[in-house]
Amino acid sequence: MSARRPIVVDCDTGIDDSLALLYLLASDDAEVVAITCCSGNVEAHQVAENNRGLLELIGQGDIEVALGRTVPLVRPLEITPETHGPRGVGYAELPAGRRPLSERHAADVFAEEARQRPGELTLLCIGPLTNLAVALEREPALPGLLRRLVIMGGAFRVPGNTTPVSEWNIHCDPDAARAVMHAWTAAIEADPGVARILALGLDVTEQAVILPEHVVALARRAGSRPDDSIALSQGEDPMRATRSVADNAVIRFVADALRFYMEFHATYDGFYGAFIHDPLAAATALDESLVRTEALAVDVEIEGALTAGQTIADSRGLWHRPPNVDVAISADADEFLRRLIERIGALAERLGVAATTPDVAP
Ligand code: BDR
Ligand code: CA
Repeated sequence: MSARRPIVVDCDTGIDDSLALLYLLASDDAEVVAITCCSGNVEAHQVAENNRGLLELIGQGDIEVALGRTVPLVRPLEITPETHGPRGVGYAELPAGRRPLSERHAADVFAEEARQRPGELTLLCIGPLTNLAVALEREPALPGLLRRLVIMGGAFRVPGNTTPVSEWNIHCDPDAARAVMHAWTAAIEADPGVARILALGLDVTEQAVILPEHVVALARRAGSRPDDSIALSQGEDPMRATRSVADNAVIRFVADALRFYMEFHATYDGFYGAFIHDPLAAATALDESLVRTEALAVDVEIEGALTAGQTIADSRGLWHRPPNVDVAISADADEFLRRLIERIGALAERLGVAATTPDVAP
């Protein structure tokens, strides 16, 4: 068994963010040091509620949850309740979190935790990069203090999912994303030993597709009963949908959250299933052999009327800049899904029916 990898997760929970967190919290090779919150899928305060509730659900409510900057650097705030539900977790209910929000700002969490263990901390950003941009203003040495920055963001050789050329996380705060790309370029120019950003864009995360049959497999792995009643039938009319009756609270959460996401994908992407972008990024943060990458110089367009938020990779080296990003170009999606089912299923099994449910929350 490998040593536990210390990791801070910055997220906009978010249905797939919640699965990414469950993946990490279920993994023996991860030590989740803190979870920080940004606005994106829903507003940051709601993100914090979701993260605290999720931790409470699985009995890990002692992990620090911190807020950061709650609006993008320059642009107005945009959220997407139609994708993730009004509270960001689809049809799922979460208990209230018991540990109060941290008094630290997310940006200080990154900098202080990285300084405490130089070269060891992994920072995983699965929402807009607002908090990281703030952290770089406060601690410009951050790129050299981290073991690795892993982001879910960008669309490199594929269309965007928010505009024809931009992916949601970059679209929400392109100014922050650009600041991050430039900070890494400068850090690598000054010290070629600084680790490049590892970016999982839509090129690979849209290969990570979860289907109802995977949720059934997850329920079976957890020993949840009954495994066929998780309400993942093709309920096109959300108003007529029913809640999961699984006896395992973690499985109920996953099924109720994912059903909303699957209905969204059925409407907008033409299949009843869901891209689970963020869990693939989380799994890759623990084991980079899940993806193949290409080292490229990457920048972000912030101005174009049609192209703001586009991630542009200089494949021919025309900018004469050192590569600042390892861009993921393919992924082992089958192995990733196998691990997801095994890890979250085993966590759910361990907790059994004892997970904290919304009904018993204070
Ligand atoms: C990204 O946008 C969000 O909706 C997801 O949580 C993911 O981080 C995919 O474009
Ligand atoms: Ca996200």
